Amino acid sequence: MIHDAASIDTHPELAVERGGHGLGVGRWVPEEKHFYLKRYIDATREARKKFKRRVFIDPFCGPGRIQVVGESGTRDGGSVAAYRQSIASSAAFTSMLVGDIDGERVQANAQRLAALGASVQAFTGPAMQTVDAMVNAVPYSLSSITVVRFGSWMVPETYPGHV
Ligand SMILES: C[S@@+](CC[C@H](N)C(=O)[O-])C[C@H]1O[C@@H](n2cnc3c(N)ncnc32)[C@H](O)[C@@H]1O
Repeated sequence: MIHDAASIDTHPELAVERGGHGLGVGRWVPEEKHFYLKRYIDATREARKKFKRRVFIDPFCGPGRIQVVGESGTRDGGSVAAYRQSIASSAAFTSMLVGDIDGERVQANAQRLAALGASVQAFTGPAMQTVDAMVNAVPYSLSSITVVRFGSWMVPETYPGHV
């Protein structure tokens, strides 16, 4: 498992997720939400390796970087942690589809992912609208699709083929 606390922000000038009050997100975000996301990605690596294309979809992606309450530094956001974990697990996502209702946030996320070498497509708008465009951007066959629903609150799901 990768350790996001030690990761370097490739774009410190871009937006950071600091929670609703701006003081930082709760510790549960890296310690539970992103921890289980990374564990899921690691645990499913052998299944994903069977597919030529491995697609990750997060329609609520945020800026790709978080600051935890009480910490001075920042850590990976969910999609960036997911991509880095996929590389560490030797089954890198071949396509990262990220969306957010806030254009500045989705562009920050896309830039951070691209800096790590990811193939990224950014979608700006409410998830109810962007999710169709994201699914339509997935090649029809030979793809595994990992979808993070509701801003990573729920367990991710992986689908073989098209959804
Ligand atoms: C908690 S943050 C990002 C979490 C991110 N998935 C992570 O784990 O780092 C949730 C994001 O959802 C976005 N958002 C809120 N309502 C939305 C909607 N209806 N459609 C798409 N994005 C939305 C916000 O702008 C915010 O960036």
